[in-house]
Amino acid sequence: MDKNKLPSRDVFSSKFGVIAAAAGSAVGLGNIWKFPYITGVYGGAAFLFVYLGFIALIGLPIMLSEFYIGRKSRKNVFGAFKYLAPGSPWKFVGVLGVSAAFMILAFYGVVAGWSIDYIIKAVTDSFAAKSPDEMESMFFNFIESPISPILYQLLFMVMTMAIVIIGVKDGIEKYAKFLMPLLVVIIIVLCVRSVTLDGASEGLKFLFYPDFSKLTPDGILSALGHAFFSLSLGMGTLVTYGSYIDDTNNLTKTAVQVTIADTAIAMLAGIAIFPAVFAFGIEPSSGPGLVFITLPNVFQQMPGGFFFSILFFVLLTVAALTSSISILEVVVAYFREELNLKRNFATILATIMISVIGVFCSLSMGMLKEYTIFGLNFFDLLDWISANLLLPLGGLFISLFVGWYLGRKKIEEELLKGSKVVGWLVTIFMFLVKVVAPTAIAIVFLHGLGVFNFV
Ligand code: PFF
Repeated sequence: MDKNKLPSRDVFSSKFGVIAAAAGSAVGLGNIWKFPYITGVYGGAAFLFVYLGFIALIGLPIMLSEFYIGRKSRKNVFGAFKYLAPGSPWKFVGVLGVSAAFMILAFYGVVAGWSIDYIIKAVTDSFAAKSPDEMESMFFNFIESPISPILYQLLFMVMTMAIVIIGVKDGIEKYAKFLMPLLVVIIIVLCVRSVTLDGASEGLKFLFYPDFSKLTPDGILSALGHAFFSLSLGMGTLVTYGSYIDDTNNLTKTAVQVTIADTAIAMLAGIAIFPAVFAFGIEPSSGPGLVFITLPNVFQQMPGGFFFSILFFVLLTVAALTSSISILEVVVAYFREELNLKRNFATILATIMISVIGVFCSLSMGMLKEYTIFGLNFFDLLDWISANLLLPLGGLFISLFVGWYLGRKKIEEELLKGSKVVGWLVTIFMFLVKVVAPTAIAIVFLHGLGVFNFV
């Protein structure tokens, strides 16, 4: 077997394998680190509700579209567009995706590196007897220092690279299957401790009791961007995974399951964090450090906290890995298909290029803090451009492609494989991808970027 050619045409060995791998891509730092932090920045419940609306009306249909494109073409995102729309410019959606993948993995690796450092901090009992203020300075001292965050970031990138080189089945399926459920168990334990802290109710109110006057156009755009980011949509990741799904799989069901799992885990993370944020008097809008500052305080206040904290940061790192491999795959697939590079060489090259960008992301937290564009440091800039611009733009094109270019007949044919999809469900799906998703994305874009003011 030519290992350079075959992995992309492997199919998953079990239905659970597909769901585990797609959910492994979706569930990651986006749920546990980014969701709470941006919900805090944009004011809590109102942001959450808008986010949930985008997940259901835009995220889910686009996820199904990506699976569809992948399975139909049995190709990665570039090959897929070339195959389904030969000779057309649709393949440039793939180029958008690769740019997004570069940017996302650059800052993702940095945050995953923080998580590795927190494993060490947990093992060496560094959270013991620290006040919330001390936790905060510990976090900032670390991320602002020039060397160690970079070393951890590079370590994480090497781990990601190694798994991608090993290949899809061994690499993804095996770990995701049992470690993700374990992470959920720990988060539930954290939720229980967090909601029973004194003053926890304020946090629950912040998370679930909406004040829509707090919503800003930028907040709505971020909710849209995060729906894409969290579900791994808009850059072809799930097209590639869809190409591994066999024809007996019910795509609709898989998409619904992955979406529910991803959203549930983000909600649980929110319930674990916000009550504690209020109980410990931490500022909910304190930014990217929110989880790293808050959770160690919770661990300190619970029996077995020492062990839970180690396990939590280990599993957070694993969750980050099952996502980062899916991001790296997008770039590797591009390098292989378009530049004709060998798989392993493509993987190493992509890892090096992305890691170098990541080094600057890390430095922009400390040494290069003063260099900002539109008021954002390099780290935040890459996050903002990729999640809020490139992914929704990719999603817009994907929905137009499926809704208008391919059309109902082809979709129905494909969705009927492995399931008995009833007609009205296809009608709803078509309406969402043809009309609702593109219109909503366009409006949120123009509004968020200040081109139009709709209210
Ligand atoms: N969905 C991942 C998370 O929530 O951490 C991040 C991600 C993975 C984004 C893959 C985009 C992607 F294509």
